[in-house]
Amino acid sequence: MGSSHLFLLLLTLFSLSIHCSPSPILQAAIHHDPKAFYNCTTNTTFAANSAYHSNIRTLLDWLTSNGTINAGYYNTTVASKNTADTVYGFFYCMRDATQTVCQLCVTEAAKLISSLCTTAKEAILWHQVCFVRYSNRYFFSTVEESPQISFANDKDYVGQVSRFNNILWDMMNDVRTRASSASDRFAYKEVNITDNQKLHGSAWCPAYLSMEYCSWCLSDAIAEITSVCCKGKSGGTVLYPSCGVKFELYPYHMPDSGVPPPPLPSSTHPSAPPGFVAMIIPH
Ligand SMILES: *[C@@H]1O[C@H](CO)[C@@H](O)[C@H](O)[C@H]1NC(C)=O
Ligand SMILES: *[C@@H]1O[C@H](CO)[C@@H](O)[C@H](O)[C@H]1NC(C)=O
Ligand SMILES: *[C@@H]1O[C@H](CO)[C@@H](O)[C@H](O)[C@H]1NC(C)=O
Ligand SMILES: *[C@@H]1O[C@H](CO)[C@@H](O)[C@H](O)[C@H]1NC(C)=O
Ligand SMILES: *[C@@H]1O[C@H](CO)[C@@H](O)[C@H](O)[C@H]1NC(C)=O
Repeated sequence: MGSSHLFLLLLTLFSLSIHCSPSPILQAAIHHDPKAFYNCTTNTTFAANSAYHSNIRTLLDWLTSNGTINAGYYNTTVASKNTADTVYGFFYCMRDATQTVCQLCVTEAAKLISSLCTTAKEAILWHQVCFVRYSNRYFFSTVEESPQISFANDKDYVGQVSRFNNILWDMMNDVRTRASSASDRFAYKEVNITDNQKLHGSAWCPAYLSMEYCSWCLSDAIAEITSVCCKGKSGGTVLYPSCGVKFELYPYHMPDSGVPPPPLPSSTHPSAPPGFVAMIIPH
């Protein structure tokens, strides 16, 4: 998987919010440079230097240091004798992010979330190809659909719209079925629309969710992507804490055995660590 594909993925995920035609659904604040979306709960807070605070720090360390162990996702718990101080955490990397890119993303996301969400007992931050969240609630067995972020591709689908909608619906539901039964809860698919046009779609859940819950979450995300968010558009993305779906008319997810990627776009970002170049978003 080439890093230029990540670049494409990022471009679509993060720049659409800027020049996006139908208003995106953003239940999140935006941080610029590096670009990230985040939501810190404001109504349940902790005191600085409390046990909970220190447990969040430990949790973020664990997420960061354990970032390469699993295949791009990881859930963990920092337990406390006082159960009110227990913190649950999770990170997820887009399935085509390499281990290196995933770890870099999680490291950066963990830094950002702790600087942006200084007193919130729960928080989520989407950064480039990964997201990180933590909570005082045990969320490893629940379907959560807010806060969400959704973007539509600028471009309307041009062609036989009702046929396109049917193909999209069938494809996304097939992707849902396959993702919810896959051990890593991820599936990607492409289908022909015409001889020279393909539709690409993907769906994912955190691996901690059961097949039923994953399928339930994806059904809601698909209902949203095909109606509310991105109806009539040539692409779109819906991200919930518990699952995500995406479709585009171009291949944004590259299987490992894909054709060699085109050369890396050059970057002028001054402080990019090696390997991070492909993830820099033009401003
Ligand atoms: C955070 O998410 C909640 C829903 O979970 C939403 O009501 C709130 O507006 C969001 N905050 C921001 C800053 O978007
Ligand atoms: C405060 O947060 C809890 C979840 O921690 C939520 O159930 C409740 O509705 C929130 N209250 C307000 C006023 O936002
Ligand atoms: C990984 O997580 C575990 C707890 O789940 C923790 O004990 C450990 O220190 C973490 N880091 C590494 C590098 O293993
Ligand atoms: C999809 O279209 C390609 C040509 O672009 C063709 O080779 C392939 O067989 C088609 N697949 C299906 C399932 O029709
Ligand atoms: C990770 O999630 C699973 C649920 O799928 C849960 O059983 C397990 O305890 C969690 N692991 C940690 C370290 O919290």
